[in-house]
Amino acid sequence: EKSGHDHFMHKEIFEQPISIADCMRGRLNAEKGELTLGGIRNYAKALENAERIIIIACGTSWHAGLVAEYVFEDLCRIPVEVEYASEFRYRNPVIKEGDIVIAISQSGETADTLAAIELAKSKGAIVLGVVNTVGSSISRVSHEGAYLHAGPEIGVASTKAFTAQLTVLYMIALKAAFNKGTIAENRFREHLRELSLIPAKVEKALKTNDKIEEISDLFKNASNFLYLGRGYNFPVALEGALKLKEISYIHAEGYPAAEMKHGPIALIDENMPVVVIATRDSSYDKVVSNIQEVKARKGVVIAIVTEGDSLIPGMADFTIEVPATHESLMPLVSVIPLQLLSYHIAVMRGANVDQPRNLAKSVTVE
Ligand code: F6R
Repeated sequence: EKSGHDHFMHKEIFEQPISIADCMRGRLNAEKGELTLGGIRNYAKALENAERIIIIACGTSWHAGLVAEYVFEDLCRIPVEVEYASEFRYRNPVIKEGDIVIAISQSGETADTLAAIELAKSKGAIVLGVVNTVGSSISRVSHEGAYLHAGPEIGVASTKAFTAQLTVLYMIALKAAFNKGTIAENRFREHLRELSLIPAKVEKALKTNDKIEEISDLFKNASNFLYLGRGYNFPVALEGALKLKEISYIHAEGYPAAEMKHGPIALIDENMPVVVIATRDSSYDKVVSNIQEVKARKGVVIAIVTEGDSLIPGMADFTIEVPATHESLMPLVSVIPLQLLSYHIAVMRGANVDQPRNLAKSVTVE
């Protein structure tokens, strides 16, 4: 079952080049400039014309939703709200007929997400499910949707489902934007090409494994970690922190890098490893300043950078290189070293990586 891997989590991290390709198979044809999402037909127009999109999810799936917020707003010019299902369902939310709700769930069984969908449906919203498990409750109650096709995810810490969620959400946004005319054909085709190159880039990002293992050994006894990112990499910082805490039991927090000076900067001293996702994008210069702020307070910086970066290695204590891609696709690549970091630290601490204490793979109670 584990096909030679020590843990399901290891297997699932390393199969991401395949699971992402599987997710695009039969849907995306970069040469022909075609994108087909068979699961979203009847409500495709409703999505393009929506005045508002509400994304509901929990945990890692909620992080995928945060990335999708940036993608949908940029490509489709539709306002997006991302909600924790557990908050949404209990706060008398404003939902109008024709609003689009996108529910994201690996298991398709998360109780809060399911209840939030029922609430949204009762108020006339159209629910699109982005689900991995075929035939699951959420896939059945959604009006339409798109499956991840990532294959079963057994490790409790979600890895390949996250990257497949990003891929599916990106395809949904791209298709809607093209049909709507908010992106031109050449940009549409360029995004398709870039997306089709992602499996190979993830494969390359997995080659950081040995270096990550060395870094893990140095920090396995840390009691706190901070993860920082901006823009598309902000949700990746949250996801990196969640992965570390859930399987290694090390306290970790993810923050948008600029928020650091509003509080968390007080935590930084020479014992504080700070993981900064600092790939080349529109917020690069700002992130570089944030690294300087951390270094000025003697924090230890582990930076995830774009291949060939010549500035950050002179500032950070450790740098991990990942291949370049369009900034909106970078989370698919930049999350890989963070998944590996949490995995190795947890293994070194002797934790039960696939079945962390107190956690269940699908949370079917509220
Ligand atoms: C984190 C993790 C959880 C799930 C959350 C939602 O690694 O696995 O945070 O992401 O419980 O689960 P689904 O996606 O099945 O609704």
